[in-house]
Formats: sequence, structure tokens, C-alpha cells
Amino acid sequence: MTKIRPEDLRSRKWFMNPDNPEMTALYLERYLNYGLTREELQSGKPIIAIAQTGSDLSPCNRHHLELAKRVRDGIIAAGGTPLEVPVHPIQETGKRPTAMLDRNLAYLGLVEALYGYPIDGVVLTIGCDKTTPALLMAAATVGIPALALSVGPMLNGWHDGKRAGSGTVIWKAREQLAAGDIDDNEFMEIAAASAPSVGYCNTMGTATTMNSLAEALGMQMPGSAAIPAPYRERGQISYEVGKRAVDMVWEDLRPAKIMTRKAFENAIVINSAIGGSTNAPIHLNGIARHLAVPLDNDAWQEIGHQVPLLVNLQPAGEYLGEDYHRAGGVPAVVGELIAAGRLPHPEAICVNGKTMGENYGHVRSTNTDVIRPVSDPLLDAAGFINLKGNLFNSALMKTSVIGTEFRSRYLSNPDDPNAFEGRAIVFDGPEDYHHRIDDPAENIDENCILVMRGAGPKGYPGGAEVVNMRAPEYLLKAGVEALPCIGDGRQSGTSGSPSILNASPEAADGGGLALLKTGDVIRISLNDCTANMLVSEADLRQRAEALVAQGGYPSPENQSPWQQYFREMVRPFDEGMTLRDADNYRDIAAK
Ligand code: FES
Ligand code: MG
Repeated sequence: MTKIRPEDLRSRKWFMNPDNPEMTALYLERYLNYGLTREELQSGKPIIAIAQTGSDLSPCNRHHLELAKRVRDGIIAAGGTPLEVPVHPIQETGKRPTAMLDRNLAYLGLVEALYGYPIDGVVLTIGCDKTTPALLMAAATVGIPALALSVGPMLNGWHDGKRAGSGTVIWKAREQLAAGDIDDNEFMEIAAASAPSVGYCNTMGTATTMNSLAEALGMQMPGSAAIPAPYRERGQISYEVGKRAVDMVWEDLRPAKIMTRKAFENAIVINSAIGGSTNAPIHLNGIARHLAVPLDNDAWQEIGHQVPLLVNLQPAGEYLGEDYHRAGGVPAVVGELIAAGRLPHPEAICVNGKTMGENYGHVRSTNTDVIRPVSDPLLDAAGFINLKGNLFNSALMKTSVIGTEFRSRYLSNPDDPNAFEGRAIVFDGPEDYHHRIDDPAENIDENCILVMRGAGPKGYPGGAEVVNMRAPEYLLKAGVEALPCIGDGRQSGTSGSPSILNASPEAADGGGLALLKTGDVIRISLNDCTANMLVSEADLRQRAEALVAQGGYPSPENQSPWQQYFREMVRPFDEGMTLRDADNYRDIAAK
């Protein structure tokens, strides 16, 4: 299995270069100044970076500061030397305008750190939504052996004797507050109850999704994704991860050998089975792009849409992270899929050097209420459909979260039960929405479709999680739970709304949404996977000319230098929101 000899280690170019003893001394002395010894740096031990995403600014990942100690122990036990490397902080709930803006910044920063310093392998500390893709993208670009360590979800939240899931309770409480059923203090109590410990969101939001998919891609130790942050197993697996990182260096097991097209196809299937977030296609398409693996939203529909929903977690279901782990976590989901012949590539390789089939083939759910077998799923077709038309080239809809109220209201036309039409109410960004939504003069009724534009990667830099718009207060009070929503922004993975989102290209990037006017009729067909504004070609041409004449779709000013660079360089959501040109760099540490 051993492929790399100590003299082949990348870190030797810094710490033990026989052709250049002067530079060796210069590189070395500063790493000795805090107590490292020459033995640790010069005796052929692999240098393993711990890419540290935890900090006081990043509460979801903060527990990694503790876990890193166990990772260090593991690295040393296996004969390596650990170096902890800070990663640009990303906190989903704290960062303005959006944490998504920082995914590519953290990516760029980590690429430079791993490439520019004496590092042979890396442990990627993942957790909060965008930390996972940022670090996997960086590992893909740099190309050194890498494995991911999830920080784990928070313990289950409880309120009023019921499970209170991250994000999901907020969306519900927001409606209760608007309807006058609770006050501000109760709102705050409900929110705090959903976050009872260290760790990331305990629902099947983007964090649990992306951590599960990091394991599904083969990039995490089997069984490690779902362990709750405070559990003893979390510390124990951190030690194993440290040990394994050293072995992966000797085996030269690089990200491109694990994250192949086959691995992505497995991950798409597993994403449907877990009821994964609508942010997953953006991130996986982005990671794939950095590996030159072709992947687009058509693949998500083709491979993922017909896969059944097995995991009964909020927002689509009932349970939370601790239940998911106890029922078997990712291994049980994958094992159930393999048993039913539904995992496309059981031969795909994982970080432990074994195949998916070897790691998971024997595992079954230990609580079939939380993780169902394929023969008794929660829903039959749990993946996304990829809608197209004159509004956009690609937008996703998670059909598994269409509720009965929504279905009976909008999808009950006997002639075509999978199509509906509605009058568009167009909002230009979240501020415009908040300003107008409850104004009776807008004339919003149950036959309307709410449209959010100016909320994509360029329009609202990074893309805002605002497409799941609540209906006006007066409609909520009248019993209309939700209106159909469409937009070029995103939606939180913890939201249960069946919105049509991530529309690409966005309004600010020449997308058809920019031509839509309030009052236009939109027709959605879930059978044909189309979304069109019923406006004549001639009218659309005229509107396009008028838009050009006024200087294009207006976007707010940049508030920081990074916002400017990001907007200039970013690709649309369906292309992974990666930075143009960055994806031309691959395996840069090997060169
Ligand atoms: Fe960080 Fe949900 S806000 S994981
Ligand atoms: Mg989120």
C-alpha cells in the first residue's frame, strides 16, 4: 500500500532540502521558536495540517478547537507532525450579507495556505453549511491527501415537549409571530431552545446535508458524519481521523482518486435518500468543477429525482440529529440503498481505502421510523427536478416538501394535476419584499406566485437565502399557509417550502427573471419541468431593449473589496458558484 517514501514528502522541500541547507535552516528556525523540535520536522514525519474552521466567530464549528486536540494526538500516534492552520471564518447565521459570499474566500485562502507551506496532508474540519464545500474545494485544487472531520450536529432541541429543530422552528415561529400567536420573547425562547449545545444545525439543513455528503463522497471516515458534537464518539473518531491522515499520505490517497464522477453520482442518490438541502447541488457542482468532473443540474434530476426519501428528519420529517445518528446515520442510509440495489457505484473508494460496498454493505437501520428501508420509504421520488423556460435556464425544486395544503390548492386541476398558473408578484431583493409583502394595496391573493429576484450570486453578493417567502399576514390569518415562490436566490436547507430556487442565470446576470413584471402570468409544469412567463416574444424583446437602455438590472453597490472581486469573477449557481479561472488549477501541490 505504501507508495510514498519519507524522501518524497512535499514538506522536505522546506525542512530538509540537501541541495539548499541555508534555506532549510531559514524555513526551519521559525517553526522551532515555539517549541517544535528538529526531530519532529526533519525525521521524515509527514506534516499534517488541521484546517481549523472553529473560532469564537463560528459557533457551529467552534467545538473543532477541542476536537483538534484529539486529531493532533492521532497524527502524533501515527508518526506525523500536526500544524493547525486557521481558515477564514464562516458562520451561516452571523455573516452579513450572507455566509455564502465567504465560501469562495475561505477556499482561496486555504488553497494558498496548503500550497504555500510545508504540508503533506490535511484534515478538513467541516460543519457549518459553507465550511464543508469550501474545504473540499480547496482540497480538490491543492490535491494533497485530505480527509474531512465533521464537528457533528447539536443535541436535539426541545420546546413544549416537542423536538425543536434548528431553523425549522424559526420558520414556524415567524408565522406564529406574524399571526399574533406569540410575542418577541417567546420567539427568542423558541430559537434558543433549538440550539442546546455545541455543534451545527440538528435538522436536515445544509449542514447535516453537506456533512452527510462529505461521507457519501468517500471523504469522511465511515460512520463519522452524524455523530453529535458532544458525544464521546466524536472525540474518538477525531483521534482515528488524525491517525488515518498520516497513512493516507504514505498511500498517496489524493482527493481526485476519491471524488470521482462515480462518487458524485453516489452522493446525488444519497442526497435524495436523506432529503438533502437545495444548497447541495450548488456545492457539489462547485466541488466537481474543481476536480474537472462534469456535473450539472440535469444530472441531479436524472440520477436523483426518483430516489426515495428514507430519512425522517425535519424539515421534511419529524426527527433530529441525535435520532439520525442512533438509527445508524449515513452508513445505515447507504447500507439500505445498497441492499436494494439503489447505490449506483458501490465500488467507489473512501478515505479509509475501502469501497462503499465494503464499508456500508452490511449496515442496516436500527430504527426504521427514523431511517426507513427502501421498501417502505417516506416518499417515492425525493430528489430535485430541474425546471427550465423563458424565466431561467435552470432552477431546482425539491418536490418532497410539497405539503398536502399546497398540493390541494395548486396541484389539483383534473386536466393537468402537475401544472398551475399564477399572477406574479415581483420583489427586487429581500428589502423590497419586507417593505411590500403585508401591504393590502399589493392585492396579493392565493392565486399569486411570489417572485424574488436580485438575490443571486451577483445581485446580492453570494446569493441570499430569501426565496422561501412567507405569505402576507392577512392571507396567513385567512388560512393560506404558503404561496408558491420562485427566485434567483437560495433558501435555507432548514426550510420546508417547495420553492423554485437557485434560478440561473440570475436577473443581475442577464436572466429572464429581469424581464418579468408584476401581474404577468407564470405557468409551472412539474411534468414537463418548465417555468415560463406567458408573455409574447415581441413584448419580451421590447422589455429586454428597455432594460439595456436603462443600464441593465440594477444591483446594490459593493460594500467591500471582496464583494467586488466576487461579483466580477463568480459563475452562476448551476455552475457551482465557483470563481472563473480558479477551476483551471488542479492538483497544484503535485507540480
Ligand atoms: Fe451553522 Fe446551521 S447555522 S450549521
Ligand atoms: Mg443555511
